Amino acid sequence: MHWLERAASERRVGDSFALVANALTALHAPDELTALARRAVDDEVRHQGLSFLVAQRFFGHPIAPPARLPFAPPAHRNASPSLRHRLHILGQCALNETSATAVLEASLAEATGALAKSALRELLADEVEHARIGWGFLGTLSAEERAAVQPWLFALVHGNMRTWRDTERAYPSDDSLVAHGAISRSLLERALQLALRDLIIPGFKQLGFDTAEIERWAQAGAPTDGSFVPQETA
Ligand SMILES: [Fe+2]
Ligand SMILES: [Fe+2]
Repeated sequence: MHWLERAASERRVGDSFALVANALTALHAPDELTALARRAVDDEVRHQGLSFLVAQRFFGHPIAPPARLPFAPPAHRNASPSLRHRLHILGQCALNETSATAVLEASLAEATGALAKSALRELLADEVEHARIGWGFLGTLSAEERAAVQPWLFALVHGNMRTWRDTERAYPSDDSLVAHGAISRSLLERALQLALRDLIIPGFKQLGFDTAEIERWAQAGAPTDGSFVPQETA
């Protein structure tokens, strides 16, 4: 059931934000960003509670909370500790939360149920802020730090897309469930493509990253089935 799955994944994102907050602290990032990331840990726990509440309302009777999902941060082997911190912040905030924002916006556009709409709105307001942590942080990188991130960029963007697509979900058998906030395959795909084209690529470009390879991949439909061979890999 969608809202129950969402509750579990929100909690896992909370674990990821604990990592992001520690990474920002270790990198001496601006206090404002670090404080936002610390607050995001609480936001995600609140998102879990809200999603679980919505799930319970739909079930119409008390249900057991979902099992806690294991959180394993991306290893980013071959990256120095400071580069690894930067890659974690980029991956969770600039990529994952930006994609989450697009998915929530798409869901909200199709939702008609009052309960789903108000819950989606609340989640969306926070995820927009969480994405800003990533973009704000990337804006503080020196030219040298940006150059160190650049060779990883394609793999990170590709990996984020693959994770969104490959995550196991109970896709709705009936499109009417999308009205209550469920994510259909087509909604997800549309939102991910939009996030890539209209938010992620322009965002990186504006910050001075080379996005040629990502754009070539996006133009090919952003495949994550191994059919696209990047010219350069990290
Ligand atoms: Fe969330
Ligand atoms: Fe978030």
